[in-house]
Amino acid sequence: MSDLDSILQPIADAIKKGKKVTFFNGAGISTSAGIPDFRSPESGLYANLAKLNLPFAEAVFDLDFFMENPQPFYTLASELYPGSFAPTKFHQMIKLLQDQNSLSRVYTQNIDTLERLAGVEDKYIVEAHGSFATNHCVQCHSEMDTETLKKDMKENRIPSCRSCEGYVKPDIVFFGEGLPKSFFKTWSKDSKHVEIAIVAGTSLTVQPFAFLPSEVGKKALRILINKEKVGDFKHHPRKSDIIVLNDCDLIAEKLCGLLGIEDKLNELYEKGKSKYSKPETKEELVHDIEEKLKSEANLKQKEPSEEQEETTPKKEDKEEEELTDLVDKLKI
Ligand code: OAD
Repeated sequence: MSDLDSILQPIADAIKKGKKVTFFNGAGISTSAGIPDFRSPESGLYANLAKLNLPFAEAVFDLDFFMENPQPFYTLASELYPGSFAPTKFHQMIKLLQDQNSLSRVYTQNIDTLERLAGVEDKYIVEAHGSFATNHCVQCHSEMDTETLKKDMKENRIPSCRSCEGYVKPDIVFFGEGLPKSFFKTWSKDSKHVEIAIVAGTSLTVQPFAFLPSEVGKKALRILINKEKVGDFKHHPRKSDIIVLNDCDLIAEKLCGLLGIEDKLNELYEKGKSKYSKPETKEELVHDIEEKLKSEANLKQKEPSEEQEETTPKKEDKEEEELTDLVDKLKI
């Protein structure tokens, strides 16, 4: 048994005995999906915002700054908008724990919705810092539907309110705004009943979220999975704390191994990844094109009727679009 296995064994044992896990997630659980975290010294977002010309890095998520100049936020949002990132092994582990009835709740600071994409049900998720799912005008608070917002973004327009022309912002919690009521309501019910607290991929610097691990009952088993010691685990460690300074995905693999669900984890992960995968090599691109040609050969056997031809887009246009997509996908 490896060192990591023996460190993680008490968590696996507790889960096998029927104890449930409450997660406290941060950006570090999504870095392997290609989404940078915020505070890692070189790769974090705040270290790479020079191009946005900000007075200070966190201004990009500052409400007062947004009201003056929403452009930096929308530049960043167009890169980070959910839809092109696949859940990581860590997200898939949460889904597997849900499936075997070992999940109590997922408190997440992340706005990438990857827990949802992995299939974790709404009733388990508390998005403490909001999400891109809904949008409101910062002046008159009218709602804007996501399709309209995305259309404005795609056409390089700052989404603005159709009623008062104020700027529209996705309901991500900015500095200067309160957390959703549901966060406080759910935590007041949960805090005393946490059995296993897994705190992962967070610097525990943003309040009130950063306080949560210190508020779980003394009987709870607390685990930190992070690249460095943070928050309460650093300043007020408990005797029973388990601190694993390692990669979130690796720990997900190890823990699932101890629970006997590693194969399921790999299966879910590969399945999730294939939905978003881009060809990495020429061979993969050629394979994609061959597949496309095969499916076209099948289609040719069923020529459309005249009526259909009028309503469907021209075949050559579609072909060109699809080939452009494939070429866009090639990133070597
Ligand atoms: P941070 O960037 O502050 O912290 C991420 C933590 O994850 C750091 O301690 C990293 O070392 C660690 N980490 C990164 N990759 C990892 C990996 N693969 N395995 C293990 N650990 C890893 O991100 P958060 O704590 O989530 O607010 O930041 C909290 C809030 O600050 C965010 O929600 C955001 C930001 O301002 C809003 O957007 C409102």
